[in-house]
Amino acid sequence: MLELSSNTRVSELQDESPAMMEALLSTGIFRQGADPDVTIDELCMDFGLSPIIILRTLLQARETEAPSDIDVSELDGLTLTQVVENIESVHHAYLRETLPLISQLILQVVSAHGANDARLADTHELFEKISATLEDHLLHEEEALFPMVRDMESVGTISPTRCGDAIGGPIACMENDHETMQEELARLRELTDDYAVPKHACTTYRRMLEQLSKFNQDMIVHIHKEDKVLFPGAIKAQAALRKSS
Ligand SMILES: [Fe+2]
Ligand SMILES: [Fe+2]
Repeated sequence: MLELSSNTRVSELQDESPAMMEALLSTGIFRQGADPDVTIDELCMDFGLSPIIILRTLLQARETEAPSDIDVSELDGLTLTQVVENIESVHHAYLRETLPLISQLILQVVSAHGANDARLADTHELFEKISATLEDHLLHEEEALFPMVRDMESVGTISPTRCGDAIGGPIACMENDHETMQEELARLRELTDDYAVPKHACTTYRRMLEQLSKFNQDMIVHIHKEDKVLFPGAIKAQAALRKSS
């Protein structure tokens, strides 16, 4: 398998993976018919982008060469601004309402059943950690990346935010957070045996597992919408803006 790096040439991508090639074309920094001997580093320099962002996009495309079973068809045909609105109204609103409720449920279950199952205290600790990360993460998106996306579509330029005036910075941070959260969600599934309800579970215990399972599912869809639709779309939009200015 090709070792992807900033020195990788477009011609190598053409040979290695149609998905990576398609992802590169979708960013707008390379056009069909252009010189394929150019490296990713050289392409990024022309557009003022960090190669790390493009390499991540390519790696994700390679990972998803097998079709995903996550359905985000509700975003088909939407503008990036509408995608942002969907993410805020469906997922950010859900998290702000639900995180404190789930935290409360876990605390109740720990106090009733924690003495018999040490994994419940671990579940509580991990969920609090995920909640704190998410609180910062949602704000970071809403105060930096999302306004940048809205600016690009409404006025064709980006007003500086707490993360500067280029989308590469916040996207790199968001992708890092997503990777960490995916690892933590996997650990949460492990600690709860994939949300299987134990025989001795009371109503609160059942509700906690139902809510955690729903949270897990919502996070998977939320991250997918951002990683696979919003971020590549925003990179492409910024490349098009820079090209036209
Ligand atoms: Fe988000
Ligand atoms: Fe996010």
